[in-house]
Amino acid sequence: MEKYNVFDSTVVELDQHHSDRKGNLSVVENGSTLPFDIKRVYYLYDIPGGSSRGAHAHKELEQLIVAASGSFTVTLDDGKQKRSFFLNRPYQGLYVKPGIWRELEDFSSGAVCMVLANDIYKEEDYIRDYDVFLKYRDLI
Ligand code: TYD
Repeated sequence: MEKYNVFDSTVVELDQHHSDRKGNLSVVENGSTLPFDIKRVYYLYDIPGGSSRGAHAHKELEQLIVAASGSFTVTLDDGKQKRSFFLNRPYQGLYVKPGIWRELEDFSSGAVCMVLANDIYKEEDYIRDYDVFLKYRDLI
């Protein structure tokens, strides 16, 4: 499989519908918004201050990470370079390519991290050890 670097992951602007009286609505739709079709949605919430999540890579999974509420920082790492993204808008999502190590931290109080993914949960798709990740990337 092609090995992507951190610059292949980008912030995607989601469709927004504004209403002065009723608030805002954003849409993610299969076939148009993302380079993949969504098979799973999960979200992190009630995250204690100071905790970090992630610290793993996926071999094949593609994801869109959205700060549905509040804010947090996502740091992507391809083994050579790191890139951090501060997410704080429900109408933006970070599209993460496969084979990239990610860490999520600095969650604001009440933050909700919504993740849209192109496959169901498969533990065998995870790389949870950083040295194994570097080997997977042919860097050690
Ligand atoms: P994990 O992906 O390790 O969380 P994070 O990287 O955000 O810290 O998942 C935490 C637990 O939840 C782990 O026991 C696996 C389980 N889980 C599922 O059962 N299904 C899922 O879709 C996800 C994402 C996690």
